[in-house]
Amino acid sequence: MSKVIVTGGTGYIGSHVAVDLINKGFEVIIIDDLSNSEISVLDGIEKITGTKPFFEKIDLCDKEATRIVFEKYSDIQGAIHFAASKAVGESVEQPIKYYKNNLQSLLNMIELMIEYKIDNFIFSSSCTVYGQPDILPVTEESPIKIAESPYGNTKQIGEEILTDQTKAPGNQMKFVCLRYFNPIGAHPTALIGEKPSGIPANLIPYITKTVKGELEQLTVFGDDYDTRDGTPIRDYIHVCDISSAHVLAFERLLNNANTENLEIYNLGSGEGHTVLEIINAFESSTGEKVNYKIGPRRAGDVIATYANNDKAKTQLGWKLKYTLQDMTRSAWAWEQKMSQAN
Ligand code: UD1
Repeated sequence: MSKVIVTGGTGYIGSHVAVDLINKGFEVIIIDDLSNSEISVLDGIEKITGTKPFFEKIDLCDKEATRIVFEKYSDIQGAIHFAASKAVGESVEQPIKYYKNNLQSLLNMIELMIEYKIDNFIFSSSCTVYGQPDILPVTEESPIKIAESPYGNTKQIGEEILTDQTKAPGNQMKFVCLRYFNPIGAHPTALIGEKPSGIPANLIPYITKTVKGELEQLTVFGDDYDTRDGTPIRDYIHVCDISSAHVLAFERLLNNANTENLEIYNLGSGEGHTVLEIINAFESSTGEKVNYKIGPRRAGDVIATYANNDKAKTQLGWKLKYTLQDMTRSAWAWEQKMSQAN
């Protein structure tokens, strides 16, 4: 059976992709150092799929420790690389940690894959590479802007490293970079989802924890932007739709259907929503009230961004299944399930 490495596979997006891969018949090898996730996620994956993935607790910055995986398992077809630090604010405070963690791990994975002749690699990138786009919606050809944070820069540099590798003489590797917009929601079973450590920086976990009473009040970061209600616009997309695109992209690589050795796809719903629209969607889909106030703008926030997702639809055959109401409702179901578990 085909094996696939999923780095960061106990994390938010990685765990959903592990489920989809297992359901498609792949054997999944998760590598994660559990620095920002919990081992119990494996139980969630097993409950959903009936199969426990292989698991290796390894820090990918340790190349020789990572090598053990390549020695231990045969028939590895490729890797989907999620493992990375992702808190934008923390990356500004600790840039070296971010460059080291996110780039060293990537370099180690690529070196090992070249050495063991495993060609297929999917890289988690972000819409943050576009900064504030001049034209909306954003296509894959939209210009890359100077990164606003060390985190964002690690994604840009990561893409550049992979691009340069495709130009190296004798290169056999094939890459897909998936640029995520704002993944939210949780698996329909509510057995896996987003579990931020500490106070969440992102909108949806902040909302669910406020409604649950763990946090007092949501602050909406500014209502004086040049948008329809004054709050910033983002492209929110269900994590299960994000996940299905990974499986399609991986199959495309396996089938040699890729037309270039590095392909880039935007993963967004194609629609932009303001912060207040998200609060409304949450309230109408769950029947819960969100306690919020308007506060000052957050440094580094862009006004508006949302995706043109035609390329992923056409070339990957990607179909979106979930609505905004599904996203907010499933996020709430997961938050409630987490409190039952504790
Ligand atoms: C952020 C990062 C992005 C990264 C992504 C990873 C910034 C500027 N961008 O995206 O690079 O890829 O996280 O998850 O940090 N909001 C509030 N109150 C809150 C939290 C958020 O009003 O307590 C608003 C924000 O101003 C924004 C929207 O909600 O308009 C979404 O914010 P968030 O969930 O943090 O995502 P991004 O900022 O889009």
